[in-house]
Amino acid sequence: MNEPLLEAVAKYLVSPGRGILAADESTASANKRFALVNVEQTEENRRLYREILITTPESKRILSGIIFYDETFWQSTKEGKPFKEYCAEAGILPGIKVDEGLVDLPGFPGEKITKGLDGLPERLAKYRDAGAKFAKWRSVIAIGEGIPSDNLIGANAFILARYARLCQDYDIVPIVEPEVLFDGTHTIEECEAVMVRVYDMLFTFLKEYRVYLPGVILKTSMVIPGKDGGREMVVADVALRTVRTLHDHVPHELGGVVFLSGGQTPLQAFSNLNAIAKAGPHPWGVTFSFSRALQDPVLKYWAEHRDDIQGAMSIFAHQLKSVVDARDGNLDTTSLGGDFVSGSQDL
Ligand code: 13P
Repeated sequence: MNEPLLEAVAKYLVSPGRGILAADESTASANKRFALVNVEQTEENRRLYREILITTPESKRILSGIIFYDETFWQSTKEGKPFKEYCAEAGILPGIKVDEGLVDLPGFPGEKITKGLDGLPERLAKYRDAGAKFAKWRSVIAIGEGIPSDNLIGANAFILARYARLCQDYDIVPIVEPEVLFDGTHTIEECEAVMVRVYDMLFTFLKEYRVYLPGVILKTSMVIPGKDGGREMVVADVALRTVRTLHDHVPHELGGVVFLSGGQTPLQAFSNLNAIAKAGPHPWGVTFSFSRALQDPVLKYWAEHRDDIQGAMSIFAHQLKSVVDARDGNLDTTSLGGDFVSGSQDL
């Protein structure tokens, strides 16, 4: 394990003025999003849409990394340059999602664990040799009647720890993502209590399985009320609770912290990130690793104006400038238009 390399990559991913684009939707998820806006679900359309995001000029300045799914990791620009090489030359680190999705946890109705440890060493070697600098593994924790169980939280923490240590043995920075779902009717207090349990268990396991914490990135949800309970999301409350939970339960020697958007609208996700940034200083670099909150307005526009690549790129550029302002605590919410309000819930 090359500790200085892992630490340097982790620091770069969360460096000031930058953040990560999650473009690692599985083929099934990408197709689902395309179907909602009536785009044909072909490999070429998935490639073309990702090319718009990757080659938008502002990506170079603002993105520290892009997380790919296997299909996109091996794809190229229309000129034939592999995306991962285009990114490396542009200062955008290529990353790869290596988990293989969710399966039911037997005996625990409503709870799912993540599979993909089998064959992982071989896949990590292949991706590392092809230029991947970091990886992502997503586990999912739902909040509901009697859940999450300690068993589910523990099983996910154990799997994340094994994945993380394996990545580090291949000099790949692991992003560990225990996503606490936005779905549900829970209160913000219940969300905070679950996140505390999740972080405490996760870092206990990471330490027990000899993971090098300065070479790890935590990808986390924000502390927010469930989206189905009709509760108002108050930005100041979200920031206060998210920051409190992170500062008190995430080791300060960790490499960095990034947020998923989780189905929040772009306006919600960006405003919350802005307030979290303002509540600093934080012990680690803190930035975005959004998929839907960054991409939804772009996909919506492109679906309706398929020949206007420049137009789609300028929407993505606007998204990037806004999110990076939020990352640095300088977001002017009055500059955000209609799509920011409706964005992700529609798609
Ligand atoms: P969202 O920002 O759409 O939640 O996606 C981020 C991600 O990578 C989830 O695993």
